[in-house]
Amino acid sequence: MASTTSSDGSQTWSAPGRVNLIGDHTDYNDGFALPFALPQRTTVVASPRTDGRITATSGDLEPADFATGTTPGDVSGWAAYVAGIAWVLGERLGAPLAGADLVISSEVPRGGGLSSSHSLECAVALALLGLAGEEVPRDELALLVQRAENDYVGAPTGLLDQTAILRSSADHLSFFDARDRTVEAVPCDLDAAGLTLLVIDPHAPHVLTDGGYASRREACERAAAALGVASLREVADVDAALATLTDDETRRRARHVLTENHRVLECVDLARRGDLAALGPLMTASHASMRDDFENSVPVVDRAVEAALAGGALGARMTGGGFGGAVVALVPRDAVPAVREAVARASAGAGLAAPDVLDVTPSRGAGRD
Ligand code: GLA
Repeated sequence: MASTTSSDGSQTWSAPGRVNLIGDHTDYNDGFALPFALPQRTTVVASPRTDGRITATSGDLEPADFATGTTPGDVSGWAAYVAGIAWVLGERLGAPLAGADLVISSEVPRGGGLSSSHSLECAVALALLGLAGEEVPRDELALLVQRAENDYVGAPTGLLDQTAILRSSADHLSFFDARDRTVEAVPCDLDAAGLTLLVIDPHAPHVLTDGGYASRREACERAAAALGVASLREVADVDAALATLTDDETRRRARHVLTENHRVLECVDLARRGDLAALGPLMTASHASMRDDFENSVPVVDRAVEAALAGGALGARMTGGGFGGAVVALVPRDAVPAVREAVARASAGAGLAAPDVLDVTPSRGAGRD
């Protein structure tokens, strides 16, 4: 793609949303995940300023205007995602940024657990670095974006989303090891396998700042402390470890994470061998684990998963942080119409608006347009 620096010095950068195929709530437990980048992207056209201010506009959202020397607490609402990035980059570069006008547009559905906010943060980070003429290695940039999210926006999220967005490649799944912060690009040739990945948003609102996410994270920390390990990743014998956890809720939270890590590893093995269809049952097992053990699903999402399976999906699960959000389903190409119909019927039967259904392929990570 042609790189654009216009005569006014503006630059265009974009970052995708992400879907996590499997491996949720494992990242902050130093575990494994298998996300990929969506074709839908957030695009930022950034023009330089020199007066120490950043302005940001995005469709109908309230325009933002703040000082580049911003610190946590200054800016709230959607603009906090932008300001948080300016803050971490200023700290990383040793001085506040010179300033920028940012015109933002996004195709990533909001509120569906597809990481629209991280997509925004990553696109803004790259655009602001581009204007400053600076580069930061992608693994380090993911950590900076996480810091913006944790310490400026106030969501205690892990590294999964930024890593998927910044480090994914087209036609590949990204096998992420959160402890070592490594990414292996695993080929995912859906056409060759006669498969389609559908993202189904049944419109269950999804929020990560209201305490559910944080309480799950705390439960995992409690489990690790009770087991005497630094993180659940360090558990070698899953059954023995679970047997020693006496509190039922803590044990079920830990069981999700521990079994999810194994499911990711199995999926990676199968995908490396090109057996993508075999990922289906593992995805469905992952959903059951979230629904029953981690208890971060909601009935609207469970119904969409069941409908997708009844329509012929090989596997389906909620993707992302949960408490609502979207479902990812692995579907034989010829079953796509039946799956679409089944999820639409399930929503109509529950008196809900028609779900959005996207047909997605693993796409390129964030970069300059
Ligand atoms: C959200 C967070 C990620 C990760 C997922 C659950 O998307 O931002 O860090 O914890 O939830 O896997």
